[in-house]
Amino acid sequence: MTDERTPTGVPGLDELIGGGIPRGHVVLIMGGPGSGKTILCSQFLYNGAAQYGERGLFVTLDEPREDIQAEMRPFGWDFERLEAEEKFAFLDASPFGMRSSRSFKPITARSLGDEIRRLAKKIRVDRIAIDPVAALLFHYPDVAERRNAILQLIESVRSTGATCLLTLELRAAGLEREVQVEEYLAHGVLILRTLKSGSNLVRAVQVEKMRGTHIDLQPRPYIIGSDGIEVYPEETIF
Ligand SMILES: Nc1ncnc2c1ncn2[C@@H]1O[C@H](COP(=O)(O)OP(=O)(O)O)[C@@H](O)[C@H]1O
Ligand SMILES: [Mg+2]
Repeated sequence: MTDERTPTGVPGLDELIGGGIPRGHVVLIMGGPGSGKTILCSQFLYNGAAQYGERGLFVTLDEPREDIQAEMRPFGWDFERLEAEEKFAFLDASPFGMRSSRSFKPITARSLGDEIRRLAKKIRVDRIAIDPVAALLFHYPDVAERRNAILQLIESVRSTGATCLLTLELRAAGLEREVQVEEYLAHGVLILRTLKSGSNLVRAVQVEKMRGTHIDLQPRPYIIGSDGIEVYPEETIF
């Protein structure tokens, strides 16, 4: 394992995780709907390319690529331009994208992993985001099969050497048993939540785990603003 870090491209976040994600690690981003998971993935990939010259692959499993491109434009993230410069690629494995694609049909952990590996090699990616992975795991209701599927996917992305974000919907405030399989298998886990601070509700990010890293366990506030996500690593919630 190397000590090299991948800066997240999210102001304030690297301070919580020792300077960035260890290169080649797979980090799970857990949060409820609207918590900013898709924005975080996009920011990681866009700033990765724009600020650090790293190539990215966005694997979308629910929203079609056109929707993501449109939603990220207000932040100034022009993925079409990055694609034209061959710094970025979309793998649209959404139900919508799959319908219009002839070349890539099946959606199993193996077929997806193979396709990711092929694309990662083709454009030599440094960063991958898979959003949201639950859309795939949905096909594996059995816990043992699900564990195998996620292991297979993690193995596929690890073999590319790229640093990877996987998102997962967090429904309940507490962590359910079925979620713990993914958490256990990933190198790192970040949780995006809405917490009560006095009479206000604030967005907070908590680092649950980051292997090989000294972490800040405190939930820290973050905002979604005109430049995307910003974390306030010095501020407390309670
Ligand atoms: N241009 C914007 N400026 C500020 N906040 C935004 C903007 N666009 C979206 N948001 C916020 O981001 C949320 C959606 O983020 P998203 O990453 O799609 O969530 P998730 O993928 O976790 O469901 C919205 O609910 C909204 O609060
Ligand atoms: Mg999303």
